[in-house]
Amino acid sequence: MDKTIELVNSVKDIQAMPSVIVRVLNVMKKPTVSMKELGDIVMYDQSLTVKMLALVNSAYYGFSQQISSINIALSLLGMVKVKNIIVAVAMKPMMSGAGDKELWKHSIRVAAGCEYLAKLTNIMDADEAFIAGFIHDIGKMVLNIANPKMYEKVMEIVHNGECDILDAEKKYFDSDHVRTGSLLAKRWQLPILLANIVSYHHTPSLSSIPVPCNLVCTVDKLVQENFNSGLLDKDFLKTMSIDMEDVEDLRKAIMQKAELLIAELT
Ligand SMILES: [Fe+2]
Ligand SMILES: [Fe+2]
Repeated sequence: MDKTIELVNSVKDIQAMPSVIVRVLNVMKKPTVSMKELGDIVMYDQSLTVKMLALVNSAYYGFSQQISSINIALSLLGMVKVKNIIVAVAMKPMMSGAGDKELWKHSIRVAAGCEYLAKLTNIMDADEAFIAGFIHDIGKMVLNIANPKMYEKVMEIVHNGECDILDAEKKYFDSDHVRTGSLLAKRWQLPILLANIVSYHHTPSLSSIPVPCNLVCTVDKLVQENFNSGLLDKDFLKTMSIDMEDVEDLRKAIMQKAELLIAELT
């Protein structure tokens, strides 16, 4: 059997999406979905309620008044943001495996960064950018859960600068997170935009929708610990009217935003 199929088949837990995500996505598909239906899902889950309230009162969204009612919190955030937050919280356990313990935080950083840049440059819808950023590395989840010890080795040789992430994964798993992620996106029947992000965030120019893939690719590089501005696509930055000398400030702003979100969702 093809190694990628074998790997995805081996992680039964993530082949089935967490039930709260399935419920949220189903509710959102209905043309006449009401805030109440979404509110019912949030309120059914105590920890989601607490997190949603903390978030709406945090500096991340910057609402001026103190909010203690979950219904008001949800209507201030709006449906799409609520859906995005539910997905980010629900996927946390799957993204906190032993191999790459930082995967969930990394995904939140890219999500917050994409949302921030999308808002700043109007290059795409900010809520869509958030979920695109959050989902981009789902293939790592598969490798992480399939063999955490081996994924630790992958991380090690990437940290030592011996090779890039995709080559390191190929070396140990005979597949990589782009391949496992693409297959998982198919199994989960993710929308085309998200499936494209998963498949092309390392090679945006090969995508049929390069702008969102480029955005995720850029933020993915910006939030790296050992950030190297030389790896950024200067032409793409130009299309967003961002100068190279502003990149450090941009990075700082994104990291600050992301840490606020991580603090509230942890
Ligand atoms: Fe990636
Ligand atoms: Fe990434």
